[in-house]
Amino acid sequence: MIFVTGGAGFIGANFVLDWCRERASAGEPVLNIDLLTYAGNTENLAPLADSPLHRFVRADIADQPAIAALLAEHRPRAVLHFAAESHVDRSILGPDAFVQTNVVGTFRLLEAARAYWSGLEGAEKAAFRFLHVSTDEVYGTLGPSDPAFSETTAYAPNSPYSASKAASDHLVRAYHHTYGLPVLTTNCSNNYGPHQFPEKLIPLVLHRALRGEPLPVYGDGLQVRDWLYVADHCRAIARVLEAGTPGEVYNVGGLNEQTNLSVVHLLCDLLDAARPRADGASYRGQIAFVRDRPGHDRRYAIDARKIERELGWRPRETFATGLKKTVDWYLAHPEWVEHVTTGAYREWNERQYAGRAARAPAAEASA
Ligand code: NAD
Ligand code: TYD
Repeated sequence: MIFVTGGAGFIGANFVLDWCRERASAGEPVLNIDLLTYAGNTENLAPLADSPLHRFVRADIADQPAIAALLAEHRPRAVLHFAAESHVDRSILGPDAFVQTNVVGTFRLLEAARAYWSGLEGAEKAAFRFLHVSTDEVYGTLGPSDPAFSETTAYAPNSPYSASKAASDHLVRAYHHTYGLPVLTTNCSNNYGPHQFPEKLIPLVLHRALRGEPLPVYGDGLQVRDWLYVADHCRAIARVLEAGTPGEVYNVGGLNEQTNLSVVHLLCDLLDAARPRADGASYRGQIAFVRDRPGHDRRYAIDARKIERELGWRPRETFATGLKKTVDWYLAHPEWVEHVTTGAYREWNERQYAGRAARAPAAEASA
């Protein structure tokens, strides 16, 4: 089996759903470990309620004894580490949780994994992998004509979020170099797709547009991000797990640089076609330029040639097809957005998991 941390969040849940659907015949189960912070939502995992391939455990990655007990009990062949505090704006308002989960949590998880891996033997030991899911933001910001980030670009994180992810990447690297732990690291660009919490640009714009609210664009809106459809990211992670070389880093990107303003325009145009406003006006009229984010990185771009050359991965979705799927998903799932935005799912989580938190395996519950 494999362990996934953070599998109730956006990318982790997409990964677990895709894994269980695509590998049903292979029958390799997933143990999904998630603390269920504001960003974790077991509703994302509802399609797996009856799946023999999925088990959910509420636990903190920083709870080393709990993670050690789970490793000893389930003996996974890999740990795929998605769990993190992930939102830049939140990291500016409250960096503590970012240092705690992204740095201390990753450290504790590495310690538990190292102890477990050290006790393995032969083929089991050789096959074990620790795959760390990270971000392109660790590389800092680019000028308009700078070359895209490659795996050898120097780290220069600018926000508490990216600094905490950079620290975690360094720890992962050091555990390979010092202890020989077979690690893999992926640094990916901005993801979008189903189940993304509506604090991030794309779902936030969709949610606010439909409610007739202003669409906040930071600064001049000409900051550039590379956007990748989440299912393509999940395929990249599965491919790196399958064939990546331990100790190596793989940059993952969508070959798709866009200004924020152009993303917002595209979303408005898709909504104009799919769900026209009652007054016939375009959603573009709701765009509001607001004060910029402090320390806002101007441009990210990913050079993803290594993963293509060595592992044969390329994105399947274009921005047009991926964005259309994303808009359609949000339009088809108003109840999901309603629950995450009113906090109803949080109350449900608390009721569902009250008294079951703390230590595994006693903390176990079915999703
Ligand atoms: P998310 O915020 O949607 O989900 C994070 C999940 O981690 C949540 O389910 C949360 O409950 C869980 N979690 C948080 N703290 C935890 C802890 N201490 N112990 C256990 N679980 C905990 O994030 P996401 O967008 O799905 O990102 C997943 C990973 O991918 C992160 O490591 C992030 O840095 C990385 N990443 C994200 C993007 C992106 O565009 N979203 C791009 C590149 C890399
Ligand atoms: P976000 O989705 O928060 O991802 P990240 O900061 O990790 O790139 O933001 C994407 C871009 O959109 C970023 O340049 C900030 C900008 N942005 C806005 O202009 N308005 C918003 O309301 C948000 C949330 C983001």
